[in-house]
Amino acid sequence: MIEEAGNGLLSRRFFLAGTSVALMAATAGAGGRGQTTLSPGTALSPEGLPDRNEKDNLQRTNISSAPGTSGTGVSRTPLEHLDGIVTPSRLHFERHHSGVPDINPDTHRLVVYGLVDRPLMFDLNRLTRYPMVSRMQFLECAGNSGALTAPTPVEGTCGSLHGLISNSEWGGVPISVLLDEAGVKPTAQWAVADGADSAMMSRSIPLSKLYDDAIVAIYQNGEPIRPSNGYPFRLFLPGWEGNMSVKWLRSIKVTSMPAMTKDETSKYSDLRDDGYADLFTYPMAVKSVITNPSPGLSLYEKGIYQINGLAWSGLGQIKKVEVSADGGKSWAEALLDAHVLDKSVTRFRIAWRWSGGEASLISRAFDSQGAIQPTRSEAMSDRGPGSFYHYNGQQAWRVATDGSVRNVYV
Ligand code: CO
Repeated sequence: MIEEAGNGLLSRRFFLAGTSVALMAATAGAGGRGQTTLSPGTALSPEGLPDRNEKDNLQRTNISSAPGTSGTGVSRTPLEHLDGIVTPSRLHFERHHSGVPDINPDTHRLVVYGLVDRPLMFDLNRLTRYPMVSRMQFLECAGNSGALTAPTPVEGTCGSLHGLISNSEWGGVPISVLLDEAGVKPTAQWAVADGADSAMMSRSIPLSKLYDDAIVAIYQNGEPIRPSNGYPFRLFLPGWEGNMSVKWLRSIKVTSMPAMTKDETSKYSDLRDDGYADLFTYPMAVKSVITNPSPGLSLYEKGIYQINGLAWSGLGQIKKVEVSADGGKSWAEALLDAHVLDKSVTRFRIAWRWSGGEASLISRAFDSQGAIQPTRSEAMSDRGPGSFYHYNGQQAWRVATDGSVRNVYV
């Protein structure tokens, strides 16, 4: 077994075919056979549910951001209990500014108007007759991982710290089709998208993005989008901060200028340390996090473990992920799962031999634009007080000699 980097990181080829990993299994003694069921099981049911042994883990972490209200805040995906790249729809993160509205699909409409030749109105039935596309892509809240901007490390699970990212197959109608039908006037540069929630979520979007890859999303992971993700349809802007993918979409107004709405001035702008704030910072930059091991998933004995996690970039594909077990002193390249897709999360894996000593596990991602995920101190430079959006610094997990794992700054 050859170490690829310090403190026990093994070659990413360790888990490829031909390697014996028998040393990781428990020895099966006499009578060590698993359970066999000889009586009929439970009855047929209209929908499947997680096993009762798993269901406590497969829950989101809810954090209310407006005490006294019930529907304002976030529900974070339990990243540490999932594998692969699909987030089950019921565990997709949510961020609501005024709860989930109850929308009747028979009366809900999408209006496209403003600087167009022909204002248009669509209902769900008519929208679904347009040509549709579907793609695996991530959605990440601009505030994801914002807890890592705190001066001292916050305790939490991977999901509670980083769970404002989820990955789905989104299906819907390209906005370019609707804009072409409406006939956009030459003076148009922007559009303003409005949601039907009582917070009246409203964001300005450059027309170029709407023409590039934006869709009116109707399906998520093969089923109609759930109310909590924008039923009957939402805007979906691949790779851009989640707030702009306006849920319960009701209008797209084509304009010559941004509208400077409350959701893009007082919120979702980035204060710098020189006192100015950056507006219209859209793409979610290259990032990764080790999901296992992570806080709450303790190591229970010395030996070989698989370190795995997620990497993504709002600007393209993941090219490479490196992992360190010695706090960033040395790095080894991780193996990427087969599905390396544009603006989608990518699963990475690497073998690690835990000696039983202390270790600091870190991952760093590289994207197709040549960007490298920054260290925490790089990600913190130029930030003004309280500025927490778009944090993409490297996450370090400290493994203690008792096998417990916690969030640390290195
Ligand atoms: Co931004």
